[in-house]
Amino acid sequence: MSNGLEGVVAADTILSEVEGEAGRLIIRGRSLDDLIGHTRFEQIVALLFEGFFADLPDEAGLAEALGRARAEIFRETAALDAALKGLGPIEAVRALTARLPDGDDLSTALRLIAAPAVFTPAVTRARQGLAPIAPDPGLSHAADILRMVRGQPATAAEAAGLDAYLVTVCDHGLNASTFAARVIASTRAGLTSAVVGGISALKGPLHGGAPGPVIEMLDDIGRPERARAWIEAALDRGDRLMGFGHRVYRVRDPRADALKRAVKMLGESSKILPGRLAFAEAVEDAALEILKARKPDRSLQTNVEFYTALLLEALAFPPETFTCVFAMGRVAGWIAHAREQLAGGRLIRPQSRYVGPAPRIAA
Ligand code: ACO
Repeated sequence: MSNGLEGVVAADTILSEVEGEAGRLIIRGRSLDDLIGHTRFEQIVALLFEGFFADLPDEAGLAEALGRARAEIFRETAALDAALKGLGPIEAVRALTARLPDGDDLSTALRLIAAPAVFTPAVTRARQGLAPIAPDPGLSHAADILRMVRGQPATAAEAAGLDAYLVTVCDHGLNASTFAARVIASTRAGLTSAVVGGISALKGPLHGGAPGPVIEMLDDIGRPERARAWIEAALDRGDRLMGFGHRVYRVRDPRADALKRAVKMLGESSKILPGRLAFAEAVEDAALEILKARKPDRSLQTNVEFYTALLLEALAFPPETFTCVFAMGRVAGWIAHAREQLAGGRLIRPQSRYVGPAPRIAA
């Protein structure tokens, strides 16, 4: 048995490959570096879904269908009652998603892609005492999300920044939430069940819950000269540094650099975040140096969540909603994996080893 299933191959996939030693991510035969900067989220959905739905339209048709799905899903925000508003954002998004019917067809899949994109802005605004804003199906997915969150149109550079993020996180091998989604799909429970399971696995701080705490860490450190002492004290307490370390990557997570470039592009075009990136880089340098000194045998590098935090902050998402934004991208991967599992996989049902007490023999 491998603790945490490290190194265990549990599925064949044509969707993505995480090359841990080379620090490379391949999505359906395309390197992440080739995709970032000129690929819209709608195009990555088309790429991931190719071959998994018989009625998949072309890219333009898919973008239109996704716009219609956002408009349909908006009706569900009426269920956002006081109880749901009292939950954390990712729990509220999960609860709203769980109300959707199960199914395995393309329209279920598109509604599930629309769900975090529409529910997150509604939940964000509800927490500010504001009414939700209806989607504009004619906009790109990224531009519409930003508009629904803030109530005003996004610039082209901001929409490109969110596209870069959604494309970067759309799929990543057999990560914990994707594995959860595949296990659920293997029981033939349906795509909604698989996506709700994916959201549940994603929300943990060791997976998709890390970027919000990255902002807390940066805000708590406050100034570059305080970074070393803060980090040493956190590690002395036994805390983990959010945004560092990875199960598969032994070198720098390629998604970290992709998102850092996106932050830089956004900063240049909209003049936001003066000094923020340089400060984060100083904290990152200190963290890497200290982690290397403390764990010389384990290569602990920056992961995707560190620059996710800076990018989503620059796009004005509140830190407590960062995991919901992660779900907006990863949902495409969960659905593609669920369909792949259904197409060729058997029920996933490993075994456990019993290490409890032997049965008592009755006197
Ligand atoms: N800070 C401090 N120490 C760390 C960190 C970290 N970020 N990451 C790993 N370590 C240490 C562990 O304490 C452990 O030390 P030990 O052997 O003395 O007990 C050792 O490195 C190995 O840790 P594991 O938990 O076995 O490593 P694993 O591969 O299972 O963990 C994980 C990967 C969960 C991402 C881990 O690095 C972590 O907790 N990072 C912080 C949370 C985070 O950034 N999560 C987002 C990950 S990316 C994503 O899922 C999208």
